[in-house]
Amino acid sequence: MRFYITWMSALAIVSQALASFPLYYELEAPPGYKEPQVQVETLFQFPNNGSWVDNIALRSDGSLLLTRLDVPEVWSVNTTSGNATLVHSFPNATSCFGISEIDSDVFAVVVGNFSTETYKPTAGSFSVQKLDFNNADAKEAERVSDLATVSSIAALPEAQALNGMTTFTKESNLVLIADSPKGAVWKLNTKTGHYEVAMNDTTMMPAKGQALPLGINGLKVVDGYVYYSSTTRMEFCRVKVDDEATPVGDFEVIASGFLPDNIDVASDGTAYIATDPQNSVVRISPYGQISLVAGGQLSTQMPGPTSCRLTEDETVLYVGTSGGQVAPVLGTFKEPGKVVKISFA
Ligand SMILES: *[C@@H]1O[C@H](CO)[C@@H](O)[C@H](O)[C@H]1NC(C)=O
Ligand SMILES: *[C@@H]1O[C@H](CO)[C@@H](O)[C@H](O)[C@H]1NC(C)=O
Ligand SMILES: *[C@@H]1O[C@H](CO)[C@@H](O)[C@H](O)[C@H]1NC(C)=O
Ligand SMILES: *[C@@H]1O[C@H](CO)[C@@H](O)[C@H](O)[C@H]1NC(C)=O
Ligand SMILES: *[C@@H]1O[C@H](CO)[C@@H](O)[C@H](O)[C@H]1NC(C)=O
Ligand SMILES: *[C@@H]1O[C@H](CO)[C@@H](O)[C@H](O)[C@H]1NC(C)=O
Repeated sequence: MRFYITWMSALAIVSQALASFPLYYELEAPPGYKEPQVQVETLFQFPNNGSWVDNIALRSDGSLLLTRLDVPEVWSVNTTSGNATLVHSFPNATSCFGISEIDSDVFAVVVGNFSTETYKPTAGSFSVQKLDFNNADAKEAERVSDLATVSSIAALPEAQALNGMTTFTKESNLVLIADSPKGAVWKLNTKTGHYEVAMNDTTMMPAKGQALPLGINGLKVVDGYVYYSSTTRMEFCRVKVDDEATPVGDFEVIASGFLPDNIDVASDGTAYIATDPQNSVVRISPYGQISLVAGGQLSTQMPGPTSCRLTEDETVLYVGTSGGQVAPVLGTFKEPGKVVKISFA
């Protein structure tokens, strides 16, 4: 309980400080810079307060897969109708985290134990599970809770708390997984189950003196770089890697000064970052300029955005939310978790 109060107060202080100094609104646009023109709408919302979308993946049929932090569930959302269906509930765990496609319509999911009341993970409880949607259609009519074939890829008992995950390359069978308290990235071979630490760095460590040991959070691989957010350090970074995901360059801080949760990065290196307690999505140009895409510190458009996912053609960004669990908007406003659709003009 003490942990909870400390963390909440720390966040409240940071949130208030940022509200009175919203630096990313004040930045001057460089010459030729175009502000993103966007349309924002809610695609789907869960019925209950406390529902917490942690991460999003896209399926090739256009639907979204959502992981939830408050329950060990993966949901599917039809992006045309907004209809949502439970895909699977994992036994023996409390929460789902990162999700990433590892083969055609096959997804890896981080599963483990985490308390949404104390914000404490259970070290040693984390594993990576597999959801295979191929040939699962036959089951659809019978049981909506079993749309995919489920199996275990590997348990990672040495991990402190696995969080975001991204596919390194499908050919390598490697996924990269952020370990937030440890300040490291694990690489896991999803075919053999072999895993080891791929990289660790100061930029991935939790900031000193923070109640919540939350360092590296979300990550994405684009053009031979691993891009990552580091939450309590308030940094967005990248490092060049070789074809084994071993770092071969400096760990660079691209932008800082906002609270980053999960990220997505476009093919040209433009990043979209969910800022969770800051209730917004920001866009970081490849040169580090920060701009607001949607939401805002005092806005109820997207309370507690946790994650974002670009469509293949990069014209739409889906944003998952916790409904403002960590830091209610204006100190009081909370709502059920939802998925927001942001269309770029
Ligand atoms: C999504 O819903 C639309 C309209 O109800 C339907 O035509 C389409 O087949 C659905 N897509 C998937 C992938 O189920
Ligand atoms: C939503 O999906 C469920 C399960 O596939 C189906 O039974 C229901 O009719 C769908 N609802 C709408 C509004 O399409
Ligand atoms: C994880 O949580 C589940 C469900 O609450 C519980 O049964 C299990 O014992 C927990 N595992 C660990 C390692 O704490
Ligand atoms: C539950 O999870 C724990 C920790 O990952 C594991 O040691 C245990 O074998 C699991 N129990 C079952 C019944 O799957
Ligand atoms: C990386 O991990 C190694 C092995 O655990 C450790 O000795 C080193 O101090 C870590 N480096 C950083 C920057 O955390
Ligand atoms: C969620 O909680 C807020 C107060 O924090 C309340 O106003 C709202 O009615 C609740 N919504 C639901 C769906 O229970």
